[in-house]
Amino acid sequence: MEHFHFHFSKNFTLFFLPFLLLFPSLSVSIGINYGQIANNLPSPDHVVPLVKAIGASRVKLYDADPKVLKAFANTGVEFIVGLGNEYLSKMTDPTNALNWVKTNVQQYLPATKITSIAVGNEVLTFNDTSLSGCLLPAMQSVHTALVNLKLDSQVSVTTAHSVAILQSSYPPSSGAFRSDLKTCISPILDFLSKTCSPFLINAYPFFAYKASPKQVSLDFVLFQPNSGIVDPVTSLHYDNMLFAQIDAVYAALSKLGYKKLPVQISETGWPSKGDEDEIGASPENAKKYNGNLLKIVGQKKGTPARPNVDLNIFVFAMFNENLKPGPTSERNYGLFKPDGTPAYGLGFSGIGVSGGNTTGNGGVGGGGNNGPSVYFSPPANSSSGYLAISSATERMSWSNWRRLSMGLMLMVGYLMA
Ligand SMILES: *[C@@H]1O[C@H](CO)[C@@H](O)[C@H](O)[C@H]1NC(C)=O
Ligand SMILES: *[C@@H]1O[C@H](CO)[C@@H](O)[C@H](O)[C@H]1NC(C)=O
Ligand SMILES: *[C@@H]1O[C@H](CO)[C@@H](O)[C@H](O)[C@H]1NC(C)=O
Repeated sequence: MEHFHFHFSKNFTLFFLPFLLLFPSLSVSIGINYGQIANNLPSPDHVVPLVKAIGASRVKLYDADPKVLKAFANTGVEFIVGLGNEYLSKMTDPTNALNWVKTNVQQYLPATKITSIAVGNEVLTFNDTSLSGCLLPAMQSVHTALVNLKLDSQVSVTTAHSVAILQSSYPPSSGAFRSDLKTCISPILDFLSKTCSPFLINAYPFFAYKASPKQVSLDFVLFQPNSGIVDPVTSLHYDNMLFAQIDAVYAALSKLGYKKLPVQISETGWPSKGDEDEIGASPENAKKYNGNLLKIVGQKKGTPARPNVDLNIFVFAMFNENLKPGPTSERNYGLFKPDGTPAYGLGFSGIGVSGGNTTGNGGVGGGGNNGPSVYFSPPANSSSGYLAISSATERMSWSNWRRLSMGLMLMVGYLMA
């Protein structure tokens, strides 16, 4: 394998210093997916100050990249590490699972705060019964390994699902799992419940909008002011689609008897660019979606059906990932370009650290096709140093790692505005 050099200017750190000074005490509990299906990302060492600076407290990986886990030692950032779908069948063997946990989790603890292992990603919606059949056994083997290593009280085992496991999601109270998946899901829910592990769901209102742009209100999916919908059964009022999706998941869980299982949004986001037929993918919409989302998370309110449960959300994603297959949108979910500049204006007006005159309006309704905000314009001199290759991606297999991610960011600005 080629040895890649990454010349990161020290200006990079200086550049983010204002954030460190500005937001020392804000505890915005947001997570970010750190995906690395790209050949142009900064090395993990250089991502640490960025994650710290924006106040992201949780990072989700799609693997257990040693470089990332080492780089984040003693930072206090919590990690969900991933075990790709390609490992599931191997992990049904307890010996393999034990070795995997020792190598990929135990050796980084306690310096790197790994709190969870996501076994497989969206496994059930591949409709591949041999793969699905391995899911629970793999989760059980990994959990048993943690028990044997006395790590089970600090590291949970779960798996992330697509909202497509729901047969019905509208209105939210009608939420139900696909009937053909119920026999498979129930034992998984039982496992999660017994091990006090969260239920993870990847939810993208973008897909719903893209599929029916004429029927679905853009304001409703972007958390913009709108009249919303009322669930006729519960009379609960919904003014955004993500909350409706989350409550549909709670309804589906309740129907199977798992009312208390906590739900976490392991992925959500909006692409800043898409193909011609990907209606809605734009910098303006991505800015509204992610900006409004962060604002809501900061307000610490739950969904209409679970008003007292904090939202636990991982934004997708840290960076645009240039090697992801699929439609253009897939490569454009990042809050940041690989060089560390924002993928779109994130609306930092009102903070005024750099003396810039940003055109964002602080979040809701933020319009305009802004360039990067003043804060995140890279120092003119360092740009040549940003475009280097990270070697982290060679090990990945595309099919199973839809999205990786990393820490959240900038959006703290919204909370201050
Ligand atoms: C999986 O099966 C469901 C239900 O039969 C179907 O709606 C869905 O499109 C299938 N998904 C894939 C990826 O084949
Ligand atoms: C900021 O932008 C506004 C509107 O574009 C402009 O009127 C104003 O003069 C600018 N202020 C500074 C300090 O550049
Ligand atoms: C770029 O760096 C050089 C030397 O490191 C310095 O002299 C020059 O002023 C810098 N240019 C800018 C635009 O910062």
